[in-house]
Amino acid sequence: MSIAAPFDAPTLIACKRDGHRLPDAGIDWLISGYTSGVVAEEQMSALLMAIYLRGMDEHENARWTQAVLASGERLDFSAVPRPTVGKHSTGGVGDKITLPLIAAVAACGAAVPSASGRGLGHTGGTLDKMESIAGFSAALSGTRVRDQLSEIGAAIFSAGQLAPADVKLYALRDITGTVESLPLVAASVMSKKLAEGTDALVLDVKVGSGAFMKGLDDARELARRMVALGTAQGVATRALITDMGVPLGCTVGNAIEVAEALEVLAGGGPPDVVALTVRLAHEMLALTGIDDADPTQALRDGTAMDRFTAMVRAQGGDLSQPLPLGSCTETVTADRGGFMGDIDAMAVAQAAWRLGAGRSRPGERVQHGAGVRIHRRPGEPVAAGQTLFTLYTDTPERTGAALAALDGGFAIGDTPPLPRPLIIETSP
Ligand code: URA
Repeated sequence: MSIAAPFDAPTLIACKRDGHRLPDAGIDWLISGYTSGVVAEEQMSALLMAIYLRGMDEHENARWTQAVLASGERLDFSAVPRPTVGKHSTGGVGDKITLPLIAAVAACGAAVPSASGRGLGHTGGTLDKMESIAGFSAALSGTRVRDQLSEIGAAIFSAGQLAPADVKLYALRDITGTVESLPLVAASVMSKKLAEGTDALVLDVKVGSGAFMKGLDDARELARRMVALGTAQGVATRALITDMGVPLGCTVGNAIEVAEALEVLAGGGPPDVVALTVRLAHEMLALTGIDDADPTQALRDGTAMDRFTAMVRAQGGDLSQPLPLGSCTETVTADRGGFMGDIDAMAVAQAAWRLGAGRSRPGERVQHGAGVRIHRRPGEPVAAGQTLFTLYTDTPERTGAALAALDGGFAIGDTPPLPRPLIIETSP
């Protein structure tokens, strides 16, 4: 199908609806028109749904990513006296890894700018988590990010400045049922991460019930496409495919996840969170050529914690203030003894979201103190009557729906479930 300029949205929407490839210049026109308001929200919603249903081939995907990247500035860290490396997860449940990870990598000598987003769909967002720290601000200019990277080695800032088209698309996907689209996830992640301007990039591609990619084939294809997009732009890019069938760690929410990240930074924390943090840190350090540093040691000896507290302080946050915790609690107890089976990440995510940890309308304020604490991890022995989950919220009328979401999301068995590998594959 041949479509030429001058373009219009209805023709391009129909082109994708009917399963054709969008023309390169048409993609550029759509993204720039949507960013400036010429392409209406209704039109972009229809196009996103057409892409969700019809997909985009690799060429279209690369052009779309390029156009989203071109909607904003690309940071320049050539003046930062350390190698720079980014990390991004495709979205998980209980995924607080960025917090200890960037601090550990900074403590090992690299600089990590983390352009982050808010919760998307059922998954949590690093910005929502960090903003549960009193006073913390993610609104940093490019110059502030650069200075902070030179001095501390880590910064968490709003991705909004970098790829403005992605901010609008991200919010629109969230309310139009179009989040779980492989090409749209690839473009969203890579436009932001390429705009970050790092030398290297490690991607944590999640797979399983709590991920946007439910099956391994899709996760592999997403990883392959993103690595190709990064490599084509001269960024050393590597991807890990990791399990998101069960939540990471023992907490799902905002402040409650920050508290768990602080445990990891203090040398403790759940083994899966520590293991994934350390593995990703090794991957990031390897890409930057730093091979004589030990992120495990940085977590144990407090140097990662020092970086984290310095970063939070530099961004106005006050870790001496207590983190918020929902004032109303509800518990789920075991109706029999045995072993905790696998806990469905999606069920826990839905419960946390219903308690107020996520949004149901764009721009809605999240409850920073809402969330779910998991007391028994898969495989742990359970006694009848023992507390399995604690639910926190400031709005008790939400607990019924949260309990319903958890119902059926776990089981107690006579034997422990088979151990699940946390790291499933690494890209070449
Ligand atoms: N993270 C992003 O930045 N975008 C997505 O679409 C999914 C995860």
